Amino acid sequence: MPEADTKEEKNFYLDIPVKNEAFFLKGSNSYDWGMKNRLARIFNASNSGKTVMLAFDHGYFQGPTTGLERPDVTILPLMPYADALMLTRGVLRTTIPPSANKSVVMRASGGPSILKELSNEHIACSIDDAVRMNVCAVAVQVFVGGEYETQSVTNMTHLVDAGMRVGMPVLGVTAVGKELTRDARYIRLATRMIAELGAAFVKTYFIPEFETVTAACPVPIVIAGGKKLPEREALQMARDAIQQGAAGVDMGRNIFQSAAPVAMIKAVRKVVHENWSVAQAFEFFESEKRGK
Ligand code: 5RP
Repeated sequence: MPEADTKEEKNFYLDIPVKNEAFFLKGSNSYDWGMKNRLARIFNASNSGKTVMLAFDHGYFQGPTTGLERPDVTILPLMPYADALMLTRGVLRTTIPPSANKSVVMRASGGPSILKELSNEHIACSIDDAVRMNVCAVAVQVFVGGEYETQSVTNMTHLVDAGMRVGMPVLGVTAVGKELTRDARYIRLATRMIAELGAAFVKTYFIPEFETVTAACPVPIVIAGGKKLPEREALQMARDAIQQGAAGVDMGRNIFQSAAPVAMIKAVRKVVHENWSVAQAFEFFESEKRGK
């Protein structure tokens, strides 16, 4: 016990009102402190309010994706430039140094491989293990329009319920069923369903009329990069998405399959966090690729 406080004069700062600021992230104001703190470790609370997540969870259904044959070789050099890592618990435990002090969004759904019906996923990681791994959010695929649509939606709602108990946000990831087209009507449906059913943020693809998707979604949306594009096109996609309301990106192949992955993730950061134009960011990418 500390000794009794003997200092008499006190200061109650009567001229300074207590600040009662709204939380910076869209749709998150009513969460408890822990949920907000985890989200603030993914999104850049002090500056842009956005995020550059590096996604390398592809192996959970398709094995060693090109560029992910050895994450210890290809991903670790990229870590310093990511605001958060999106990965599986297997890669987290085997490959990411616990001393890394890096925010993690952990894949918590799984089941089918690319050899089978991808929508037939189940919850593949308990919220207990997510807490044990000290991650900032868990991610689950939601196959709106897929053969196992309801199963994938309830995977997410079960994780949302479990996450609420421990202050763990859920990222709902839209997955487009084979027979569906990635148009604004479909993406608006999928992203809004995910938000309505409790996800704290959503990941989807950038498509024309994207501004209507972000406008109709009450929580933040980050975009996946999708298949590898020429770097300039990928930077254009990132900028257009940010301009149209995205809260960031969660890119994988367009970074780790780039000819210069470090240069690429740094250029993506310029677009997302510093509002650089595509021309500026691509020139930066080229100069970084040449080694300045
Ligand atoms: C894999 C995923 C990926 O995390 C997501 O697609 C982002 O990766 P990429 O930018 O390579 O598409 O959900 O199922």
